[in-house]
Amino acid sequence: MPRSGPLPAAFSLLLATAALLPGPAAAQNEPRINASEDVVIHLYGPAVTLQCNLTTSPSPLSASYWVKNGEEIPGTRKPSNTTEYKILKPRAEESGEYLCVFVFSNSPIANATIEVRAIPDITGHKRSENKNEGQEALMYCKSVGFPHPEWVWRKKVNGVFEDINNSSGRFFILNKDNYTELSITNLQINEDPGEYQCNATNQVGSVSVTTILRVRSHLAPLWPFLGILAEIVILVVIIVIYEKRKRPDEVPDGKKTNSTNNHKDKNLRQRNTN
Ligand SMILES: *[C@@H]1O[C@H](CO)[C@@H](O)[C@H](O)[C@H]1NC(C)=O
Ligand SMILES: *[C@@H]1O[C@H](CO)[C@@H](O)[C@H](O)[C@H]1NC(C)=O
Ligand SMILES: *[C@@H]1O[C@H](CO)[C@@H](O)[C@H](O)[C@H]1NC(C)=O
Ligand SMILES: *[C@@H]1O[C@H](CO)[C@@H](O)[C@H](O)[C@H]1NC(C)=O
Ligand SMILES: *[C@@H]1O[C@H](CO)[C@@H](O)[C@H](O)[C@H]1NC(C)=O
Ligand SMILES: *[C@@H]1O[C@H](CO)[C@@H](O)[C@H](O)[C@H]1NC(C)=O
Ligand SMILES: *[C@@H]1O[C@H](CO)[C@@H](O)[C@H](O)[C@H]1NC(C)=O
Ligand SMILES: *[C@@H]1O[C@H](CO)[C@@H](O)[C@H](O)[C@H]1NC(C)=O
Repeated sequence: MPRSGPLPAAFSLLLATAALLPGPAAAQNEPRINASEDVVIHLYGPAVTLQCNLTTSPSPLSASYWVKNGEEIPGTRKPSNTTEYKILKPRAEESGEYLCVFVFSNSPIANATIEVRAIPDITGHKRSENKNEGQEALMYCKSVGFPHPEWVWRKKVNGVFEDINNSSGRFFILNKDNYTELSITNLQINEDPGEYQCNATNQVGSVSVTTILRVRSHLAPLWPFLGILAEIVILVVIIVIYEKRKRPDEVPDGKKTNSTNNHKDKNLRQRNTN
């Protein structure tokens, strides 16, 4: 009981000094970075320069470097408190989340984020997908561009692209940040063939590409075989008809062969006599 009194008092004193001391110290040592504004880049647009200036340093600087989408950009590390990164040829793949990072000899690192945005660019898709009825079709689109897009799949119906009608429950969509996949199961030859569009939209703009889906009949793989079968049948029919038309003439033909046989017999007999 007598101990419980002085102890909390000591604690509160400690807490008070702890709360007082780091306050002004932190404000003094807090690193400050003056960084470029977020920017939107356009394909074939002007080069863009990202800048960061360290205006308050908590302790001597040891290095600064740039990070893009979480990875250090090689060759940007240098011992300087002002740093720039130039995007010479703006393209969607140059967009992303950029950070300038300042490393100090005896205090935690500091960084500032600059978002470089661009309209999505669809860098991969199938021009066409050819399947048999009953099989599964798979279409996809891949993109570059920051921020990652929202994906929408549409189908051309009477000349206009409409949202996919999934009343049959055969359409499946898988979306990732920079990838989308549409699969259609149990393909129907009457309903499914046509043009499908994937549409990528972010705050900068939107783009889309189309894939043509062709669905062949079950019988399609049999067609070469059926063709050969048809050829054989036609050949047989022709031969049969030809043979039937030849038959009435066969009797005189038989006589002819007999007569030639007679000739041969004569020749043989002549040779024998010689
Ligand atoms: C930061 O940069 C802007 C211009 O880019 C300038 O107006 C401002 O004074 C700078 N701030 C400091 C603390 O240097
Ligand atoms: C950084 O400092 C340079 C001069 O050293 C200045 O031209 C530039 O505008 C500054 N950038 C920012 C973002 O404050
Ligand atoms: C940045 O570096 C320059 C030259 O090395 C120096 O004069 C300046 O004081 C530094 N500024 C900060 C905030 O460390
Ligand atoms: C940037 O700074 C934050 C704290 O402000 C830190 O959590 C993060 O790890 C830093 N990122 C990099 C790449 O240095
Ligand atoms: C798509 O994003 C994943 C992870 O988010 C990444 O690993 C991959 O490189 C990206 N692909 C493209 C083409 O940007
Ligand atoms: C979807 O297709 C079915 C027929 O397959 C039709 O009855 C229905 O109205 C369609 N729904 C929409 C929203 O177009
Ligand atoms: C289509 O319907 C099936 C079955 O109801 C469902 O599992 C699937 O997620 C739906 N697909 C889409 C794109 O809504
Ligand atoms: C993509 O979809 C969005 C939202 O529905 C629409 O506003 C935009 O026009 C479409 N873009 C293209 C290129 O089709």
